[in-house]
Amino acid sequence: MPALVLLGAQWGDEGKGKATDLLGGSVDYVVRYQGGNNAGHTVVVGDQKYALHLLPSGILSPGCTPVIGNGVVVDPAVLLSELSGLNERGVDTSKLLISGNAHLITPYNITVDKVTERFLGKRKIGTTGRGIGPTYADKINRTGIRVQDLFDESILHQKVEAALDFKNQVLAKLYNHRAVVAEQVVEEMLSYADQIKGYVADTTLLLNNAIDDGKVVLFEGGQGTLLDVDHGTYPFVTSSNPTAGGACTGAGVGPTKISRVIGILKAYTTRVGAGPFPTELFDADGEALRTIGGERGVTTGRDRRCGWFDAVIARYATRVNGLTDFFLTKLDVLTGWEQIPVCVAYEIDGKRVEELPYSQTDFHHAKPIYETLPGWSEDITKAKTFAELPKNAQAYVKALEEMSGAPISAIGVGPGRDETIQVNSFLD
Ligand code: GDP
Ligand code: IMO
Ligand code: MG
Repeated sequence: MPALVLLGAQWGDEGKGKATDLLGGSVDYVVRYQGGNNAGHTVVVGDQKYALHLLPSGILSPGCTPVIGNGVVVDPAVLLSELSGLNERGVDTSKLLISGNAHLITPYNITVDKVTERFLGKRKIGTTGRGIGPTYADKINRTGIRVQDLFDESILHQKVEAALDFKNQVLAKLYNHRAVVAEQVVEEMLSYADQIKGYVADTTLLLNNAIDDGKVVLFEGGQGTLLDVDHGTYPFVTSSNPTAGGACTGAGVGPTKISRVIGILKAYTTRVGAGPFPTELFDADGEALRTIGGERGVTTGRDRRCGWFDAVIARYATRVNGLTDFFLTKLDVLTGWEQIPVCVAYEIDGKRVEELPYSQTDFHHAKPIYETLPGWSEDITKAKTFAELPKNAQAYVKALEEMSGAPISAIGVGPGRDETIQVNSFLD
C-alpha cells in the first residue's frame, strides 16, 4: 500500500489536516502537491492546536518526512515564518524537503491578487489574497520564478525583470498602482536563499525511489474538489488541481503508483468566498452549524458559509477523483438536530437532476431536493466503534455512504486525533 492521496471532497476545510495527522504516524512521507498558503489545515494534538498553511501536516509526526512538491506555490517569507513558529513550539522541522521546481509567490503576485479582486468589485472571487492565482498564471505564462532561481542571482534578476516589464505596465495603466522595482524584489528574494537552500531536493526522484522501496507516501491535498480549476465551480475556484490527478503532476509520480484515494467529506457542507452553493442555509440552522462547527476560516478569519450535506457533490467527488474511501468528518456537529435534511438531487428548471451539471448556468439554478433523516441527541464524541454510535447516527452514515458511491472508512467525532472511528484501515 505505498501511495495514498488524501483530498478535500467539497469546497475545502473538510478536516484534511486532522486526517493527515492521524495517518502521519504510519507513513514515511507526507507531500503537499498543489496550492500554497491559501490553505489552513488545523491539527489538534493533545491540548496543542496547530494551524498549518504551507507546510504538510506530516511535519508534526516525528517519523515522517514532509515534502513540498513541484506543484505547490511557495511564499518564502511565509515558509520561513511558519518554520520558525513551529521550532519555537519545539517541533523539529529539519527533515522538510522542497522541490526546486516549485514556483515562488513574489510580492508582486500578492499585489496583483489584491488589486485584481478590488477591480472585480461585486464580481470578485473572494480569494485569500495570498497571490495564489497570479503565481499560477505566471507559471502557465512561463514567466514564473522557481525555488531553484533563488540560487542563481543573474537568472533571478533576468526573470524578475522580464516578469515586471509587462506587469508594471498593467499595474500602472490599468490599476493605477505604482510600479514595482525589480531590484527590491530580487534583494528580498535573495535574502531568503541561504535559509531555504538546505531544504531543496530532487523530490520527484526521491518520492519515486521511496515508493519503489515500499515506503508509504501520503499526498495531502489543499482546498477541495469543487475548488479545482478544471473540475470545480469555475470561475469561483482556486488556480490549481486539488483533485487526485493533481497529486501526479504536482509531485512527479505516475498514476500507476497511486493505490488509494481518500476523500475527506464533512457531514454537512461549508464554503468560503464567492460562488454557487445549492444547499447554503441563511437561517438559524446555518448559524447553528457555523457556531457548533466553529466554521471560521483558519487563513482569513472569514465566517464560512454553511449548509446541509450535498450527496450530488459527494458522488461527483467520487467520480472525478476515483475515490476508494471517504473519511466523514464532524459528525458530532450534527448532534442535537431532530431531523437532518440531506440533498439527494437537484431540481434544475423543473427537472430532477442526479449528477452535478457541467453547465455553470444550470448549477447556479440548482435547487436542492432534500430527504430528511432522523437525528440523534446522544453525545457521540467518546464513541470508538461504529457500533457505539446511536442507531440514527449509524443510519445517517450508512445513508450518506450509499448516496456517495464509496465506503466511509473513518468517521470524525471531534477535532482530536483519537476522536475518530476507524471502520476500515487505510493502510491495508
Ligand atoms: P482542512 O483545511 O481540510 O484541514 O480543515 P480546517 O482545519 O480548515 O477545518 C476543519 C476544522 O474542523 C478544524 O477546526 C478541525 O480541528 C475541525 N475538525 C476536524 N475533524 C473534526 C471532527 O470530526 N469533529 C469536530 N468537531 N471538528 C473537527
Ligand atoms: P483548505 O486547504 C477553503 C477559496 C477562497 C476563494 C477561492 C480562491 O484549508 O481547505 P485563492 O486564494 O485560492 O485564489 O482563492 O478558493 N479557498 C479555500 N476555501 N479552504 C481552503 O483551503 C481554500 N483555499 C482557497 O476562499 O473562494
Ligand atoms: Mg482549511
